[in-house]
Amino acid sequence: MGNVLIAGDLHGNATHAQTVIRAAVRNDCAKVFVVGDFGAWEHMPSGRHYFDVVNRTAKKAGVTVYFLDGNHDKSSLLHELYDDHPDDEGFLVCRSHLRYAPRGHRWTWEDTAFAAFGGARSTDKGWRLAREARKAEKVEKRRRYGSSKQPVTSGILWFPEEEMTDEELGELLAADSSPVDVLLTHDKPRSSQPKWNRKDKPECYPNQDRIQRVVRALRPSLLFHGHLHVRYTDVVACGDGQWTRVEGLACDPEASQYLEYSNDHSWHVLPLPATDQKLEEVPADEQRSLPA
Ligand SMILES: [Fe+2]
Ligand SMILES: [Fe+2]
Repeated sequence: MGNVLIAGDLHGNATHAQTVIRAAVRNDCAKVFVVGDFGAWEHMPSGRHYFDVVNRTAKKAGVTVYFLDGNHDKSSLLHELYDDHPDDEGFLVCRSHLRYAPRGHRWTWEDTAFAAFGGARSTDKGWRLAREARKAEKVEKRRRYGSSKQPVTSGILWFPEEEMTDEELGELLAADSSPVDVLLTHDKPRSSQPKWNRKDKPECYPNQDRIQRVVRALRPSLLFHGHLHVRYTDVVACGDGQWTRVEGLACDPEASQYLEYSNDHSWHVLPLPATDQKLEEVPADEQRSLPA
């Protein structure tokens, strides 16, 4: 079981998580790696239950599930709970068979160098903050009528840590910018062109530029990302005449919004080692250059 199954956003969908784990077993993968919007919501009982279900399914199947953070994962809480519990490879152990790759994390599987950079911008930030505000209003009203309950109402639907900052990224790259074979991110690099791009909005560009910066620094042969919820393949320049193949993965079926969706659009089986994936020649019409 030397392969790894890379999967797109799960959004806390336990049924789809089980489908993904079954696909991993069918394809001789002892590892699943989810590229963000995993559903890390342990501030809620349902989120803790989801972690338990995924862990139990993975354990039974003999699979370990890894994930990086998307914009809809409460990564601050993952650090709070699990920073003191790293495994031998530096992943944070959330459950025996469920592990989190913090931003900038690097590791090697079967001679293949990997790096993970989570985070993205939520385009529904306003809607999420408005819902939190409505909850806060309700709590205040109940308090005025004598209720002593004080439920937390902020940081439950929108997470201020959702995007990397330029400073955070600068520090991560200063600590280590050596090349990798495979880069895993939640957001897309700015220059890739999906067939359908629901994140082609100015507020999304700064983080896409950060991912492009990572591509330029680490020069991966392969990049897998989620967030767009659509399956596509593209090729982008990573500098110095080298190329990165970008694989955008679809998400769980309930959050999917495109008609030709099928479950296997949400994952890709990567045989390991994946050290021979360098693209030598790329047709001119497939090349995407770096933004200025
Ligand atoms: Fe998502
Ligand atoms: Fe996302």
